[in-house]
Amino acid sequence: MKNITSKQLRNAWIKFYEERGHVNIGAVSLIGDGSTGVMFNVAGMQPLMPYLLGKKHPKGTRLCNVQGCMRTVDIDEVGDESHFTFFEMMGNWSLGDYFKKEKTAWTFELLTKVFGLDKNKICATVFEGNNSAPRDEETASLLLDLGIKKQNIFYQGKADNWWELEGTVGTPCGPDNEWFYPLTDNECGLDKCDINCVCHRYIEIGNDVYMQYEKLDGGKYKPLSNKNVDTGFGFERMLMFLNGLTDGYKTDLFSNVISYIENASGKTYLNNLEETKSMRIVADHLRTTVMLIGDENSLTPSNTGAGYILRRLMRRAIRHGKSLGLNCDNLVEIAKIFIEQVYNEAYPLLIKNEQYILDEIKKEYKKFDTMLVAGTKEFEKVISGIIRKREFLKQNGSLETVENVINGKTAFRLYDTFGFPIEFTIEMAQEKGFSVDLEGFNKAFEEHKELARVQAGTFKGGLQGNSDKEIAYHTATHIMLAGLRKMFGTQTVQKGSNITSERMRFDFNIDHKLTVEELAELENFVNNAIQRKLEVTWQEIPFKQAIKMGAYGVHNAKDDELVKVYTIGDVDCQICGGPHVNNTSELGHFKITKEESSSSGVRRIKAVLE
Ligand code: ALA
Repeated sequence: MKNITSKQLRNAWIKFYEERGHVNIGAVSLIGDGSTGVMFNVAGMQPLMPYLLGKKHPKGTRLCNVQGCMRTVDIDEVGDESHFTFFEMMGNWSLGDYFKKEKTAWTFELLTKVFGLDKNKICATVFEGNNSAPRDEETASLLLDLGIKKQNIFYQGKADNWWELEGTVGTPCGPDNEWFYPLTDNECGLDKCDINCVCHRYIEIGNDVYMQYEKLDGGKYKPLSNKNVDTGFGFERMLMFLNGLTDGYKTDLFSNVISYIENASGKTYLNNLEETKSMRIVADHLRTTVMLIGDENSLTPSNTGAGYILRRLMRRAIRHGKSLGLNCDNLVEIAKIFIEQVYNEAYPLLIKNEQYILDEIKKEYKKFDTMLVAGTKEFEKVISGIIRKREFLKQNGSLETVENVINGKTAFRLYDTFGFPIEFTIEMAQEKGFSVDLEGFNKAFEEHKELARVQAGTFKGGLQGNSDKEIAYHTATHIMLAGLRKMFGTQTVQKGSNITSERMRFDFNIDHKLTVEELAELENFVNNAIQRKLEVTWQEIPFKQAIKMGAYGVHNAKDDELVKVYTIGDVDCQICGGPHVNNTSELGHFKITKEESSSSGVRRIKAVLE
């Protein structure tokens, strides 16, 4: 089948499996909830892990979906034809239901009947066996029976035909059956131009994993009580392949965006290598930005954790956009194309969050714009300084040489003062034939962190004294933040807090100045919580459990790290070191005395307890 659109492919996958008794479970959030220890969803099967290990799924034993995934390990590769930071995986699962016979038959039917592939050209690989699991003769013979040629079936080892999540234990895994197809019938001329040939005539189009094992510590495997199937076919890759393309940016997921960039920049795609790379980076990173900000667990750019990954992607898109001559409005238009034209049907939440997404892009652009100009100037100065020094030494007959290396302190200054993520400086340096002393950068970074820690200890906002009044103000900040989150959404977080025995000061992210009505509502919210005499309790539990119970406040602790969770009646549940009052009735009357801007996108409230 040629000329299949992304929307058709999505529907074809779901329809095929629904007709075979599967329930479409839809996609879950792209952002990890802390329970799996990963920041983002990295595979279609990730949200299903507990069910593959034996838990009963509420929707049954046959499931399918198209799931968004994110892999930032590929970030440096973005810019070529086929690497993306966000991608989707078409999946279907049997949870202890059907097994190899049905699965091989259905994948074969989908490929030949729905997608029109030639069965004589289809190649497949199966597990050759080792100490953990036997050679997969069963799958091989099922494939033969279906009509796949004997010479097109290959046995391979663990490196190729065993699927598991690297670096994890207690996760489901097993041998897999991979499917390959040639991009062209013309052999390259090398001795054996088969699926493993260096010419890449064949591409892997997907795989069926027979998940029957649990991965234990020390490279051991334990059979699961259920025999599951976990199928994953890369959406982008399949779309390219079915349309006879090798360039993902030519599929309809990106073609309108690329045309828009061409028009807005006056440059032509595929005309110049550097420009083409920039176009792809802008397109890829903005797509991921849209997905992360518009997600049900909406992310905003920040300086820590997942928020920092988003910030890096946005800033890189801005920089490459600028190199093409694109401005903020252009980037917003690109985001709009993704939201309104490409993902409008599959991700209706994006439409709902459209204004919010676009505003966040504008805000980050604004924040970074002036710094980028100043930082680039600074960067150029550093480069020319190194070159000048070398010239000077040469002219003066010195034997000392200066290498094309930006030292760690300078890289840190670009990070700290101009907001340049380190890989950003590395990339800019590479473009000039320079490298960066990464070790020196890390050292400067650590030194800075240590200094900040010392300072934080000294100026702990008065809480150090822990007078009753200060403790009361601290509890009041919790209630107020809960009120803000209720009024404006859970993307609202604390951006700073300073407490004395006279007053509290609290900073938080929000896109507007609070109106008089909003301030009154907030005040009422806090006073209502006080009047209801709510009990304040705390417990010390593993971070993973804290997140499960809905606590917020800290995003990146280790799963099993013990954290303190403070609960204020039905109002608030935060990870926090404390201390707090025992009952909200101890607070008195809460009154906001001032609302002002703190920094861009951050407002500050001062309040007193009377
Ligand atoms: N879990 C398999 C994959 O991610 C299907 O490719």
